[in-house]
Amino acid sequence: MLFHDIKMKLTEQDIQRVQDTIKTVSSYDFSDYSYNSFCRRIEKILGDYNTTLDELLRNIQGNYNFMEKVVRDITVNTTELFRDTDAWLKIRNILKQKFASKESLHIWHAGCSSGQEVYSMMIMLCETGMFERASIYATDINENVLRTAMSGQYKYHEVQDYIGNFDKVFNAKLHSEDVPYVDIRKYMDINKNRDYVKMERSLVEKPLFFKHDLVSGEPIIARKLDIILCRNVLIYFNHDLQNKVLKFFHENLANDGCLIIGRHEGMIGHVASLYDKKDSVYFKRTV
Ligand SMILES: C[S@@+](CC[C@H](N)C(=O)[O-])C[C@H]1O[C@@H](n2cnc3c(N)ncnc32)[C@H](O)[C@@H]1O
Repeated sequence: MLFHDIKMKLTEQDIQRVQDTIKTVSSYDFSDYSYNSFCRRIEKILGDYNTTLDELLRNIQGNYNFMEKVVRDITVNTTELFRDTDAWLKIRNILKQKFASKESLHIWHAGCSSGQEVYSMMIMLCETGMFERASIYATDINENVLRTAMSGQYKYHEVQDYIGNFDKVFNAKLHSEDVPYVDIRKYMDINKNRDYVKMERSLVEKPLFFKHDLVSGEPIIARKLDIILCRNVLIYFNHDLQNKVLKFFHENLANDGCLIIGRHEGMIGHVASLYDKKDSVYFKRTV
C-alpha cells in the first residue's frame, strides 16, 4: 500500500519527537506552537512527502536543507491584499488620528508571509500622505515567502479573488467623508493574460524584508516601533508563547505605539493589562 493512502495519526509522543529533533539540529523551537495545528501540519507533511515519521526524523537529523524545507512546510502562509477589509478602515483611522503629525514612523510587519499585508499598508500610507516618512520592516520565519514578498510580483490567478478588497477599502462609499476614487493601477500593474500582478517600483523598494523568528525574542532593530502588525500569526502559538510574544511586542513599542493583531486573535490574562484596546487596535500602556 502507498503511504499516501494511509491517514497518519500522530500521538503526543510523536509530536514531541518532531519538536525535539528539530530543536536539536537547529535554532527553531516549535515546542510552544498550538498542538493541534502543529500536529495537522506534520501529518500533512508525512502524507505529502510520502514518508514515515522515523524516516522524516532521520532526514531532519541528517540533512540541514531538508530540515529547513520541513520548517517552511510547517508554516501556514495564507494571506491577502487588504485582508479583513474592515480592519484596514480602522487602520486608516488610526493612522490619521494618532500618527499624522509624527515626523517619522517605524512599522514592523511580524509574520508578513508573501508581503500582501506589507503592500496594503504602504498603499494606505500613500493614501494618507505618510509614505515618505515611514520606515517599513517586514519579517517572517519562512525564507521562501520572503523572496516572493521582496519581488513584489504575484500570479494573477492566485491573487485575483481578493483584488476586489482594494475597492472595498478605498472606493466603497462607506465613509461619511467624501473620499476621492483611487485607481488600483496607481499601485500595481495587473496583467490577466500574462498572469501577473506587479507592485509599483517605489513600493517594492521601500521595505526591509528579512528573516526573523518570533520565538527567539530578539528585537529586530535598536529603536522602538510605532506600529507592529502581527496578524494571523499568534493563532499558531499556544497560550504561553502568545503571551511571551505579546510582552515582547510591548517592550518593543514606543510609548505611543500600537499593536494590530488578527481578527480572530485576542489577549487574555495579565498581558491584556499591558495594552489599551481601542477599535480592535492595542495601544501600549506604559506601566
Ligand atoms: C497566516 S500567515 C499571516 C500573514 C499576514 N500577517 C496576514 O495576516 O495575512 C502567518 C505567517 O507567520 C509566519 N510565522 C510562523 N511562525 C513564525 C515565527 N516563529 N516567527 C516569524 N514568523 C512566523 C509564517 O511563516 C506565515 O508566513
